[in-house]
Amino acid sequence: MATIPEAKPSRGAEREDQVRTLFSEIAPRYDLLNHVLSLNIDRGWRRRAIRMLQWQERDTGRYLDACAGTFDLSLELAKQVGFRGSVVATDFALPMLVQGRSKLGPSVTPICGDTLRLPFSTACFDGATVGFGMRNLADLRAGFSAFARVLRPGARLVILEFTEPPNRVLRALYHFYFHHILPVVGRIVSGHPWAYAYLPESVKEFPEPEELAVLLAEAGFGNVEWRLVTGGIAAIHVAVRA
Ligand SMILES: C[S@@+](CC[C@H](N)C(=O)[O-])C[C@H]1O[C@@H](n2cnc3c(N)ncnc32)[C@H](O)[C@@H]1O
Repeated sequence: MATIPEAKPSRGAEREDQVRTLFSEIAPRYDLLNHVLSLNIDRGWRRRAIRMLQWQERDTGRYLDACAGTFDLSLELAKQVGFRGSVVATDFALPMLVQGRSKLGPSVTPICGDTLRLPFSTACFDGATVGFGMRNLADLRAGFSAFARVLRPGARLVILEFTEPPNRVLRALYHFYFHHILPVVGRIVSGHPWAYAYLPESVKEFPEPEELAVLLAEAGFGNVEWRLVTGGIAAIHVAVRA
């Protein structure tokens, strides 16, 4: 069995392949583990994230949900935007899309594609979301630039991502759960030796909310705001394409 340090996806060139393989392998158990390990709190986070997109009632816009996985965020987006709008959901791990396809309705179009090389024309989306995906990208700056290219000026990007809670007590509990409970339950249920040990490692490496806001501004986004949810276990960033 591989050890965690050997198996952790590296930075740089190999990372994309390793991350795609990881999610392809855990796809059959992804939804179950997602809701069990988050104690279902993730559903509320997704609803809040989509509300922060500030879609318009009776919206006819075209929205992108990147790193869509098994479509939980895409479906919440489609539900809130309504059937007048349309949602394109992309992910580069085909088994994740295949696993989620039975949940899809006509307003979500799945496309297998890389967030770093979004296969769309410039300024063609009215808004975009990414849930628990940015942390996995091999190049964060390139990811933000890719979103900046496909969003029209004035369109919003919403990012939902894990973060470390600022409160010391909560942070200690969070670390205990993330490093001792989650990897064990994740390993038993998914059968994958290290996927759920990678999760806390990737959160630790991911920029703090303030740093993320700077990277967004550098990529061409303005009005960057964020809200911590559930004591700062997760953060929702919103940025407007300048
Ligand atoms: C933790 S899952 C999140 C799935 C979904 N957004 C959700 O909220 O449950 C991360 C997803 O990002 C995808 N992903 C990671 N890097 C990617 C990239 N460069 N291009 C496309 N998808 C990517 C993975 O395949 C995986 O399905």
